[in-house]
Amino acid sequence: MSLKNKNILLGVCAGIAAYKIPTLVRLLKKQGANVRVLVTQAATKFVTELTLSTLSQEPVYTDIFPDRLSTEADWTKHISMGEWADMYVVAPATANTIAKLSAGISDDMLSASFITLRPNKPKLIFPAMDGEMFTSASVQRNLAWLSENGCTVINPESGELASGQCGTGRMPEPEAIVKIIDTTLETTFHPSNLEKKSIVITAGPTREKIDDVRFISNYSSGKMGFALATSAVRRGAKVTLVTGPVHLPTPEGVDRLDVESTEEMDLAVKEHYQSCDIFIGAAAVADYRPVNHVTGKLKKNSETMAIDLVRNPDVLAGFSKQKKKHQIAVGFSLETAGNLDNAKEKLEQKQLDLVAYNTFDGKTSGFEVDTNIITLIDKRMNFYELPLLGKHEAAERMLDIVEGLISDDE
Ligand code: C5P
Repeated sequence: MSLKNKNILLGVCAGIAAYKIPTLVRLLKKQGANVRVLVTQAATKFVTELTLSTLSQEPVYTDIFPDRLSTEADWTKHISMGEWADMYVVAPATANTIAKLSAGISDDMLSASFITLRPNKPKLIFPAMDGEMFTSASVQRNLAWLSENGCTVINPESGELASGQCGTGRMPEPEAIVKIIDTTLETTFHPSNLEKKSIVITAGPTREKIDDVRFISNYSSGKMGFALATSAVRRGAKVTLVTGPVHLPTPEGVDRLDVESTEEMDLAVKEHYQSCDIFIGAAAVADYRPVNHVTGKLKKNSETMAIDLVRNPDVLAGFSKQKKKHQIAVGFSLETAGNLDNAKEKLEQKQLDLVAYNTFDGKTSGFEVDTNIITLIDKRMNFYELPLLGKHEAAERMLDIVEGLISDDE
């Protein structure tokens, strides 16, 4: 993909890594991109507006309100910036600006234009700060919110930091940033064959009631299913997200149906059997439910207790069993490492077109965490081994492979 004529908004915050930004602007301009730089007031202490303006051949903006008000174009600049841009890059992103962007504070040109960016345009955030700051609870919470809401957060690299300490916090080099911008633009702007396709995605855990106050469930957070929904909408798909109880905001443009039990999830999915082109089972569905649901609260009047369980319907297998030739079924197979054969078995048993063999280690992959290690296996036994990736990045790679399945069939 060429960066030629792409409009890039570049937000620069006050971190020492800002010294790399003139080089970044120069590299982007060399490749033909149009770059408008927005700096925070404090960032001007690290890099001058004159340098950035000379290299970008554009005025550099800090405040929303210009010194002189002359035309309407001056005082609505933050809106036209968001309309103009094909992409928004924040580099380096400091803890302060990350907090503002996640909270929707818009008190300067950088933060206000971030909000006015059109929803289908990519936002790349490059946090760079001291290691202790980066791993602090508030920064991690704010970054998690941003990635759950359509931003791509590129984790900083480890190495020597300005404080003299070694740790995670270094912004990638300008050449690496250009590469990431290029790949992101390519995935965003290449025509996707998911456009206008109906995709149903299940996500999160299900809950099976024991009595009125207790249930059987699991640790699924729903993050993988929600990331898939976000990426699918960005590719122009019509997405229905059937989710068990999770604490995640609804991705923009997604039609969300909240359910509690497996039977409810099954019913909701059945409604879409005919209309959906692709079904992705990302939910961690409870395989069994108590035979009896006790009204009120079960009493503890014995040392041991047995609860009779009965098999739940298999939502994904139910869809596959009746699916038409053009419909695609994708499932997950969460296994302890080394159990790839179980995933292959599931592919066959559930008549899937693609299975995501997903290992869990409790730290970097599986439930609750933000990253995942996945190997995809399609029905022709092609293997796609993905490295450890953020769930949003893993979702993008998974959908690239789903797109390949559509082209194969068409
Ligand atoms: O058999 P297992 O639970 O390992 O299969 C996992 C896959 O099947 C996941 O894609 C999950 O969403 C789906 N599944 C389902 N209904 C069930 C059990 C699993 O849709 N009752």
